[in-house]
Amino acid sequence: MAHMSHMLQQPSGSTPSNVGSSSSRTMSLMEKQKYIEDYDFPYCDESNKYEKVAKIGQGTFGEVFKAREKNGNKKFVAMKKVLMDNEKEGFPITALREIRILQLLKHENVVNLIEICRTKATATNGYRSTFYLVFDFCEHDLAGLLSNMNVKFSLGEIKKVMQQLLNGLYYIHSNKILHRDMKAANVLITKHGILKLADFGLARAFSIPKNESKNRYTNRVVTLWYRPPELLLGDRNYGPPVDMWGAGCIMAEMWTRSPIMQGNTEQQQLTFISQLCGSFTPDVWPGVEELELYKSIELPKNQKRRVKERLRPYVKDQTGCDLLDKLLTLDPKKRIDADTALNHDFFWTDPMPSDLSKMLSQHLQSMFEYLAQPRRSNQMRNYHQQLTTMNQKPQDNSMIDRVW
Ligand SMILES: Nc1ncnc2c1ncn2[C@@H]1O[C@H](COP(=O)(O)OP(=O)(O)OP(=O)(O)O)[C@@H](O)[C@H]1O
Ligand SMILES: [Mg+2]
Repeated sequence: MAHMSHMLQQPSGSTPSNVGSSSSRTMSLMEKQKYIEDYDFPYCDESNKYEKVAKIGQGTFGEVFKAREKNGNKKFVAMKKVLMDNEKEGFPITALREIRILQLLKHENVVNLIEICRTKATATNGYRSTFYLVFDFCEHDLAGLLSNMNVKFSLGEIKKVMQQLLNGLYYIHSNKILHRDMKAANVLITKHGILKLADFGLARAFSIPKNESKNRYTNRVVTLWYRPPELLLGDRNYGPPVDMWGAGCIMAEMWTRSPIMQGNTEQQQLTFISQLCGSFTPDVWPGVEELELYKSIELPKNQKRRVKERLRPYVKDQTGCDLLDKLLTLDPKKRIDADTALNHDFFWTDPMPSDLSKMLSQHLQSMFEYLAQPRRSNQMRNYHQQLTTMNQKPQDNSMIDRVW
């Protein structure tokens, strides 16, 4: 760990891409290999110190494996492969950003990056190493747990999950980092019931713009189902509230067991949001009319806000409904922040947040979204249709299918 910040530094003139260029042209193959082995990436161990056990994830940016340390204390790790396919040369900037952010963030509720590893550069791989981000292993992800109906969370356990999730968000936001990809699959839970925010592949540092200036961050972030209304309307001057919206979607999912708004397109996602949270008007959200897509997108009119009404049949707990209502607030300026959410009555009334380890000890198999095939099975859907309470008469039939 002491060398983390130097890990990707190489001795001058020894980048993988320039091996074979002028300075090394006169080397024999043997010499070249020796040169790479001896001098390349001196702070970056070889990945064969771990042995792969199973594939546990297939993300947009590469595969994730469960692996085990061969020596030492033989602990389990997760190895996330750095996808180099689109790189002509050098280390991908997106992975560098993820690593820099993970190096900064050290907290009980944030996944711990142990080190970066590489395969040996040999003639068979064209002297190109594969790199892995190596993390402490967590037994489950929340999407995997929620899609297994045998896993039942009590109200106290749901509170514990949300309290840890908000603790993690409070910590990263205090460190001026936006996660930008909140969703159940990116929330890991150890067998001891400790929650870790994971997947900082889309994360970035943020600043509060001074004077009249505005940030111009990329708008195309966050998985559609968890994307907040401001991003869907083209906002580029956003901040921590984007993650708080995701926290609200995840919180509701703790009871509904599947994502609450499963739009197929941005337009449909906005429609679902206004059917749940009410129409977007400058009345409830001053300034919404200035967002780039406000005028060009067709938005449902005269929709009433129904967050509490629609979630109460699932959530039942009144303080829980109130916190959800505050997280799923349209106006990002009015949306509750992590600090205030942690002080909400939900966490300070009986039943108090309770440890998850006892419940999890009944489930010895790891549960990951990737392994839960098919992800949201028909069995799940039937279950949700049963749960969709009689008193709801959705105007649009597609709602039954795609919302809960
Ligand atoms: N430390 C870990 N312990 C256990 N499982 C992990 C760990 N890190 C990641 N995973 C599993 O691998 C999956 C993919 O990892 P991650 O989200 O970091 O990659 P990604 O390629 O960015 O994914 P995506 O693009 O699908 O969001 C996670 O959803 C989780 O199931
Ligand atoms: Mg992910």
